[in-house]
Amino acid sequence: MPKLPDHLELKRTRVSCKLDAPNDTESVLYSGAYASLGVDNSSLESFFKDFKVVINRLTEDEIEFDMIGIDAALANAFRRILISEVPTMAIEKVLIAKNTSVVQDEVLSHRLGLIPLRVDPRLFSYKSEKDEPNEKNTIVFGLHAHCKRGGPRCTVKSEELKWQPNGSMFALEIENKGSSSTTAPKTYTNFKSNQDMQPEFSENPIHSKYPDITIARLGPGQEIELEAHAVKGVGKEHAKWSPVATAWYRMLPEVVLLKDVYDVDAEKLVKKCPANVFDIEDTPTGRRATAPRPRACTLCMECIREEGWDEILALRRKKDHFIFTIEATGALPPEVLFTEAVKVLEDKCERIITELS
Ligand code: F3S
Repeated sequence: MPKLPDHLELKRTRVSCKLDAPNDTESVLYSGAYASLGVDNSSLESFFKDFKVVINRLTEDEIEFDMIGIDAALANAFRRILISEVPTMAIEKVLIAKNTSVVQDEVLSHRLGLIPLRVDPRLFSYKSEKDEPNEKNTIVFGLHAHCKRGGPRCTVKSEELKWQPNGSMFALEIENKGSSSTTAPKTYTNFKSNQDMQPEFSENPIHSKYPDITIARLGPGQEIELEAHAVKGVGKEHAKWSPVATAWYRMLPEVVLLKDVYDVDAEKLVKKCPANVFDIEDTPTGRRATAPRPRACTLCMECIREEGWDEILALRRKKDHFIFTIEATGALPPEVLFTEAVKVLEDKCERIITELS
């Protein structure tokens, strides 16, 4: 297989980071770009061969993994889908029966909307304007907090939001006292069955992900009584539905010593780097600087700021290697969020193919 000359290969695969600006940031996507040199630049075959995902760190709420052999446009598509197109459940409608606290109704509702809920959104359907709220598209929480007269001030926390598996308890209309009707009054939801009868919820009751988020502070004698209705949505409609606190990536850094750096200069280099990228090793020719931890480089440029150092050190980024981090808000585990993002992208591709054919 013919290969590109070194300087072209470097331009094709690396971003070169200089003091003034990064260079060679573009990707060469055209399959015939290097045809005159006998090199096939069509990426599909090499994509199948080289693509890899390596998980470095996985906790309940965070994942860091390396995505190798992918173009920046695709990595960015996953980031954007994660932030704005993977659905979650969030409180959308708040029915306030009583609020004598100093927090205004609209501020209270806004705070409730931002509380992350621990519930799998894949078990629910979207609710449109015309749909009636039912057990398939709505989750109802009740909150009743009262601060006793003569006592200290109280804090209302998110753990006081109680899931109501059989829907709303607030009657739609006040009953006529003279009426002899024995049917239950119509409420704001129309649940045909209790949500906690479903096996997914009977073992895993729905609750707010964090129990200690402050909703309001109540003074003696103050009271809040409300119902909060959560529905399914996506982050591009409102950030409260975003399943991630953030999702971000950086290209894998490469720190290359173009010339040997010895003794005093080597010590100077080690001290300059705040990310501890460099080390010193003993060699027969003296104490020589090495760069064993390039991954830690934050590209602060301190090592090449002094005149002449940019000829000794090359700072690069690999164009097809991304260190991806997802911080979940708690609705779904971070690794599941990524697979959901892949499904969203797959759906989009299928839609385009269908529309084109
Ligand atoms: Fe260190 Fe130079 Fe990177 S100072 S953080 S190796 S840019």
